[in-house]
Amino acid sequence: MLHVLNHPLITHKLTQMRRKETGTKDFKQNLDEIAGLMAYEVCRDLPVKPVTVETPVAACKTFELSNEIVLIPILRAGLGLVNGINDLIPTAKVGFVGLYRNEETLEPHEYFAKFPSNLDKAVNLVLDPMLATGGSAVAAIDIIKKKGATNIKLVCLVAAPEGVKVVEEAHPDVDIYIAALDSHLNEKGYIVPGLGDAGDRIFGTK
Ligand code: PRP
Ligand code: URA
Repeated sequence: MLHVLNHPLITHKLTQMRRKETGTKDFKQNLDEIAGLMAYEVCRDLPVKPVTVETPVAACKTFELSNEIVLIPILRAGLGLVNGINDLIPTAKVGFVGLYRNEETLEPHEYFAKFPSNLDKAVNLVLDPMLATGGSAVAAIDIIKKKGATNIKLVCLVAAPEGVKVVEEAHPDVDIYIAALDSHLNEKGYIVPGLGDAGDRIFGTK
């Protein structure tokens, strides 16, 4: 299912990121802040288990998270979403999928993968600011499903309708969370209006 997280703070910060004159420092800071705000919504339905704790006053029947959370950024640009979410979920583990998109074919190519154990028991958040053709997201989800992951959420900032459709068709069990659904892809596979090349803007390359 697609969740578009319409929130004035998220939209305002994303607007600053979209501006072409926004530099690396402000781009990264806004991304960090949006990641935290999105995490709050993405985690709304996380499973909890009942526990009893002793407060300084009395026993308290309450709840705590029942599953481990694993953050899986798609390198490089997905790294930009890790810190903001990790601030809210400091116990989260982090795995990595390295993919780059061939600029001509737009096909994703894997160059790195490293995960914590027990993806099968965790809630796995796949992170990438841009969902364009959907090829990278589908490939990353394929990779972690082969490692046993079943509970998977895809967290992106900006998506094209084409990419959402591709992921929904390939992985109908994966919930997709985005901050904005843009118009379309251009002939180079860039999201329109989008925000340009997220990796380059985060890391100052180009
Ligand atoms: C970008 C982006 C996504 C991918 C999206 O990465 O961060 O991973 O493109 O495009 P898709 O939906 O068409 O697959 P890129 O390949 O440019 O690598 P980078 O993150 O290292 O810059
Ligand atoms: N990757 C990006 O970084 N931006 C786009 O618009 C599409 C893919």
